[in-house]
Amino acid sequence: MNKDVIIACDFAGKNECLDFLSGFGAERPFVKIGMELYYSAGPDMVRQLKERGHKVFLDLKLHDIPNTVKKSMHVLSELGADICNLHAAGGSAMMKAAIEGLTRPDGSRPLLIAVTQLTSTSPETLKNELLIEETMENTVVSYAKNAMASGLDGVVCSPLEAPAIKAACGEKFMAVTPGVRFAGGDVGDQSRIATPARARELGSDFIVVGRPITAAADPVSAYLQARKDFLGL
Ligand code: C5P
Repeated sequence: MNKDVIIACDFAGKNECLDFLSGFGAERPFVKIGMELYYSAGPDMVRQLKERGHKVFLDLKLHDIPNTVKKSMHVLSELGADICNLHAAGGSAMMKAAIEGLTRPDGSRPLLIAVTQLTSTSPETLKNELLIEETMENTVVSYAKNAMASGLDGVVCSPLEAPAIKAACGEKFMAVTPGVRFAGGDVGDQSRIATPARARELGSDFIVVGRPITAAADPVSAYLQARKDFLGL
């Protein structure tokens, strides 16, 4: 899949999401559906967006025993999602089972990417609560290598982590990166951020942009600007 901007559609319900997307006219942006929207609007939200011509990243971060993840991934694959994800912390047996579940009878499947460590996890939490003695970077890179060895296509990470992931796992291993802000824009609760142009330089394959687009006075212009900057158009 070509590099692109993915809009994080963090809306409370279906109508809010469809209203927002109707402003884009014939343009059909790649969208991310997270837990909030999926739990409120259900699987039909994915079907509807696919029918309208959007690509969909289903950000549900699965983490359970291999058999449960395999069967759940099968359901998400049938919905037509283009990218799905899970927590690499579930281990390689779970990740391999996920790939099996995602693979359709014709051999096609959505891309599968892993969350390594959540960007909200601090080094203190890593050490004191998760009891992981390695540094954050070593942990993230090690989880990324496990994901690659299990057959996954990439990871979700900060744009600033993309170079280390690519160095360890190769250029083709995808870095899908939230934490993107326009220069001078409101940072909000994100901390390890980059502009769309910087994310391109750092090697991101997809940038996931939420509030800088969804909360903009003119979301379509903000989206087109992000695309122009990220793709170097
Ligand atoms: O509004 P904003 O641009 O911060 O949205 C970023 C999106 O990416 C949100 O949907 C958030 O849940 C998601 N995300 C993230 N950091 C991660 C994983 C996902 O910001 N490590």
